[in-house]
Amino acid sequence: MEQSNRVDRVLAEPGREHDVDRPNLIGTSPAFLAALELIRKVAACTAPVLIEGETGTGKELAARAIHYMSARRNAPFVAVNCGAIPESLLESELYGHERGAYTDARDAAPGLIAQAHGGSLLLDEIETMSQRTQVVLLRFLQDQEYRAVGGRRTLHADTRIIASSNADLEAMTTQGQFRQDLFFRLNVLAFRLPSLRERPGDAALLADAFLRRLGQRYQRPDKLLHVETEAFLRDYAWPGNVRELENLIHREYLFSEDDVLHFTSPRREGIAARAPSAHAKTFKCAKAEVVARFERSYVTEVLSMAGGNVSLAARLAHKERSAFCRLIRKHWPDGKLGSTNVP
Ligand SMILES: Nc1ncnc2c1ncn2[C@@H]1O[C@H](COP(=O)(O)OP(=O)(O)O)[C@@H](O)[C@H]1O
Ligand SMILES: [Mg+2]
Repeated sequence: MEQSNRVDRVLAEPGREHDVDRPNLIGTSPAFLAALELIRKVAACTAPVLIEGETGTGKELAARAIHYMSARRNAPFVAVNCGAIPESLLESELYGHERGAYTDARDAAPGLIAQAHGGSLLLDEIETMSQRTQVVLLRFLQDQEYRAVGGRRTLHADTRIIASSNADLEAMTTQGQFRQDLFFRLNVLAFRLPSLRERPGDAALLADAFLRRLGQRYQRPDKLLHVETEAFLRDYAWPGNVRELENLIHREYLFSEDDVLHFTSPRREGIAARAPSAHAKTFKCAKAEVVARFERSYVTEVLSMAGGNVSLAARLAHKERSAFCRLIRKHWPDGKLGSTNVP
């Protein structure tokens, strides 16, 4: 019953957006499911990983999923954004430094590679890494050995490197902006996360899931999406991908006094005029559509939490198993319910 214990733990901490034990990757589009399949495969190997994808596509979430699905799950997952650390400090951040290595280094300190020993280290925005630090990283990838800044001893760490990038590393390599030998090394287990534009249907599914989380976090009844908002979510280009969607839903959730969120643009200001509705549907019809969408996404999520176990999902939903099955049959008459669960 390990599975159900886990689920209970997730439910017991509704405020936590990302349970480290169970990175919750949501989506059912073919492009996303294909990426999920690669995540599963990559988790079973030990070689370094490269995750490419536009900003906000879930690279960090995917890296966590890989770590927590791998045999390293009981050792630390450490993440560092290479672009956010001054170039001169990154090396000491990664490899640590000896006492007196530079002016401020009073005491020796281990680096992130040592802290993630036995586990995984995510190097986010690897494209920003200086050539010099790239060389040191390559050496570490070759023999798991390195030296602390200012140190003479050769140190060893068993740390799996997961690199992520929102640039086209291959193109950067061709242009001489990224070391080819390092690129080859990282490119063995590489995959790209699709943008939200390439994931038909997923924006609305994600929006519903975010709304449910917000309801739990703020202890308020669930809010739903207006059908015109669903159309907007489907048609908008999402340059900031899932992060932009998540932030937009959060903002609209907080500003809306209604139970149904109605917005048709990614307005940056919280309060803006309501979009006039060109073809008003009857109340009954509009409500039925919203409820059907809610049911579909709710069932998908709770099933995913329950690892595909229908009885457990029904219990989590506080529904009779038979009623829960009726819901599944109503929305998936052909029985094809895409599984998106990352255990
Ligand atoms: N498939 C997904 N399901 C649920 N949440 C997601 C998904 N992809 C991304 N997110 C959320 O979107 C935000 C941005 O994801 P992140 O992994 O930081 O993106 P990236 O590292 O590619 O910029 C995070 O809050 C993350 O939890
Ligand atoms: Mg990121």
